[in-house]
Amino acid sequence: MAQKTFHVEVYGCQMNKLDGQLAADRLRAMGLREAVGLRDADVVLFVTCSVRQHAEDRVYSNAGKLKHRKARQPGLVIGILGCMAEKDRDDIFRRLPHVDFICGPGHLDRLEDLVREATARGAGGHLAALDAPRAARSPGDVDDHLEAFELGRLTPVGEHPFHAYVRVMRGCDNFCAYCIVPYVRGPEASRPPSAILDEVGRLVAAGVRHVTLLGQSIGSYARQEQGRLWQLADLVRAAAEIEGLVRLDFVTTHPKNLSDAIIECLAAGPPVAPYLHVPAQSGSDRVLRAMHRGYTIGEYRERVAAARRRVPGLSVASDFIVGYPGESDEDFEATVALIREMDFSQVFAFKYSVRPGTAAARLDDDVPEDMKKDRLARLLKVWSESALRSKRALIGRTVECLVTGPSPKPHLDAAEGGDGGGRMQLSSRSPGQQIVLFEGPSGLIGSMVPVRITRVSPITLFGEAVAV
Ligand code: SAH
Ligand code: SF4
Ligand code: F3S
Repeated sequence: MAQKTFHVEVYGCQMNKLDGQLAADRLRAMGLREAVGLRDADVVLFVTCSVRQHAEDRVYSNAGKLKHRKARQPGLVIGILGCMAEKDRDDIFRRLPHVDFICGPGHLDRLEDLVREATARGAGGHLAALDAPRAARSPGDVDDHLEAFELGRLTPVGEHPFHAYVRVMRGCDNFCAYCIVPYVRGPEASRPPSAILDEVGRLVAAGVRHVTLLGQSIGSYARQEQGRLWQLADLVRAAAEIEGLVRLDFVTTHPKNLSDAIIECLAAGPPVAPYLHVPAQSGSDRVLRAMHRGYTIGEYRERVAAARRRVPGLSVASDFIVGYPGESDEDFEATVALIREMDFSQVFAFKYSVRPGTAAARLDDDVPEDMKKDRLARLLKVWSESALRSKRALIGRTVECLVTGPSPKPHLDAAEGGDGGGRMQLSSRSPGQQIVLFEGPSGLIGSMVPVRITRVSPITLFGEAVAV
């Protein structure tokens, strides 16, 4: 019999990218191989996101398209993983009756059983591995049954071949008024530091040079081990000691948790990258209060300023929601002003999307869709102008870049393309996660190279390697 194949389709955040890779690992260990695409796969998994309506619509549409194929080919196994499995637990089999199983993020270790059972049953299985209601579980419960699964990972996964994500926490307890994450990912739980450090060590031994630690609210990491309390700063300091690791960063830091101890970790320098993802969400105190974010914009400014004082050249990335219920022109202008002022290295901005069951869902979603669209476009325009200004300020500076591979689009700039002498246009990442292209030998791939920035475009930096 021909070897069975699988396809994993991932939506949503870095947590999901990691879960998608862990799922793929497990299928490989079961003897399946990766299909060329969704069309050829015998097992299709959707790792889903519920953070906005649009992300869910895409899954319902793409998974819906498999209905006729499942009718023709009952042996096809279709699974819905991720946050939507928890959120739409009662709806998925009604809307997508051809789906075989649903599996919440806290039950990934059940994947192998689910695939086997669905395969044995053929069509009409409808299996589910989901959390008990959040209220029935004690806060801080560590999902230790997931530890073995998590630690069994075979392959690194990240943004490029030398990068890996490592989860340090599960869930979230912040309950920002608009957000579904605490409901679908469950209560906050910090993984044991020894397990995290072990995982980082093994990834580095396998060739990973850059690790990103992941948590929805990573600044609240706390775990007792052998009589000692570990917080994020302790964990970062310990991971930074691992030989061979050249870059280490962590996301996402809630502004209220951006402690001096975390700032000191950043100030310690390599391998800790001068990069901070600290979402503001809005520039208006009124909106922040309505969002239950737990800080004022003055406090946000103060924390970021404190970090920048200690870490010159710090890259600060932020998220924003436009069109939150009740957001006035004045509130929105406060957000625009913040973006103009703050010099964010990256901005992720979204139109507010009502999430059923959250506190904000009780409010009137009163900003019209057209206005949300206009505000989003304006916000991104203001940010790209400010980003170009700060990129230009980098011209002439030298930055330490991790070379990730050949430039995927060398035709972008023919003048800097290959010259046939073993040199080629290489792609690299700056400490602030920006893409830097420069010419050099392929032997540099995987190493750190100082690159002097010579030219910038709105999305990419160009430079030349500095001889060392
Ligand atoms: N834990 C992270 C991010 C969680 S979701 C944090 O707290 O920063 C990623 C981003 O999606 C959020 O930062 C927010 O900007 C956006 N988001 C969350 N819920 C949303 C909603 N209901 N509508 C629109 N955007 C939302
Ligand atoms: Fe959602 Fe807030 Fe938790 Fe982030 S911190 S995941 S925005 S509830
Ligand atoms: Fe989406 Fe779940 Fe991540 S809702 S943003 S995939 S935590």
